[in-house]
Amino acid sequence: MNKVSLAEGINWVGVVDWNIRDFHGYVTRRGTTYNAYLISEEKTALVDTVKHMFSSELLRNICEIMDPERIDYIIVNHVERDHSSSLPVIAKYAKNATIITSQRGKDAIIEHYGSDFKIQPVKTGEELKLGKRTLRFVEAPMLHWPDSMFTYVVEDKILMPNDAFGQHLASVQRFDDEIDEHVLMEEAKTYYANILMPLAPLITRKIQEVVQMGIPIAMIAPSHGIIWRSDPSKIIKAYSDWSAGVSKNKVVIVYDTMWGSTDKMARAIAKGVASQGVDIKLLKLRAANRTEAMTEILDAKAVIVGSPTLNNGMFPTLGSFLTYATGLKPKDKVWGFFGSYGWGGGAVRGMTEMARKAGFEVHEPGVEVKYIPDQEDLKKCFELGQQIAARIKA
Ligand code: FEO
Repeated sequence: MNKVSLAEGINWVGVVDWNIRDFHGYVTRRGTTYNAYLISEEKTALVDTVKHMFSSELLRNICEIMDPERIDYIIVNHVERDHSSSLPVIAKYAKNATIITSQRGKDAIIEHYGSDFKIQPVKTGEELKLGKRTLRFVEAPMLHWPDSMFTYVVEDKILMPNDAFGQHLASVQRFDDEIDEHVLMEEAKTYYANILMPLAPLITRKIQEVVQMGIPIAMIAPSHGIIWRSDPSKIIKAYSDWSAGVSKNKVVIVYDTMWGSTDKMARAIAKGVASQGVDIKLLKLRAANRTEAMTEILDAKAVIVGSPTLNNGMFPTLGSFLTYATGLKPKDKVWGFFGSYGWGGGAVRGMTEMARKAGFEVHEPGVEVKYIPDQEDLKKCFELGQQIAARIKA
């Protein structure tokens, strides 16, 4: 491995997962990385580990720098298995290491891997001296698990916030100034939309808390993807905007179709939206996926969802999408619904009920068409698009 240095004595020892395409339901089209950092001082600390299938690669990366037996501390910022499942392997080599984690991290480590570890729980503000360097810990409960914690290297002003500010992006580059900025921000946005979106109020509060603590940040080294070293304020600003719900005059139409009727309706609705000068994204599920849809929805003001009726209910792709979307709780959007049916209907009713139950703002009435939309039906669809576009502009 080429040595990747964040600062003298602070090295990236993580691994690149080039081929992962499904990260618990999130479509990771560009793979991911599991970042771990080795801080070598009078005392040595390993910050986080990697997914279990890469444990030997992590071990080799550490061995290129030092004997793992000399690791004094393993910092576990987060117990989700992509970061902790190599812990039992590493702990076997780092026989004398103490695990540093939050109290809930300690509980979760025992629940995942048993109690055969030396664990020292820490709270916000507690520090660990490694020699000339100091690690300070900031608990970040529910960002995005109860155990989540940030580690801050005081002298170097490096924040290691685990999942926060990450991206699922496999690459040979490790730093933001080495990679295409558009790709980086696109993946950071996708990551936020598909993992952190429901935690927006907590993120806003945590950013304020860190700012109030007066912690200067020269670098942000997350546990996935690229390290922000050229201008970390850029991703902090993006998180502030996303968590505040900053959006554009944009409508996302998400739909699927059986025999083309719902597709015709979607296109007519898109024309109605566009007639008001509002931006539009048209995503047919089975061509696009729910990860892409949520990324587009993050900064849109309205979502219009269409489904044909199948077995008196919505089409399976829409059921999956709406389960995912209602769980991620996008805020301050207008939701409209449309669809086609053969005899009894049910898709539009089912989708509308699901959105209401989730507390979404629903635009009513939606449009339902029997069998194949005629000119009058397509006019109603155009008008639905017009009305929703006018509503978000107002
Ligand atoms: Fe990357 Fe919550 O694990």
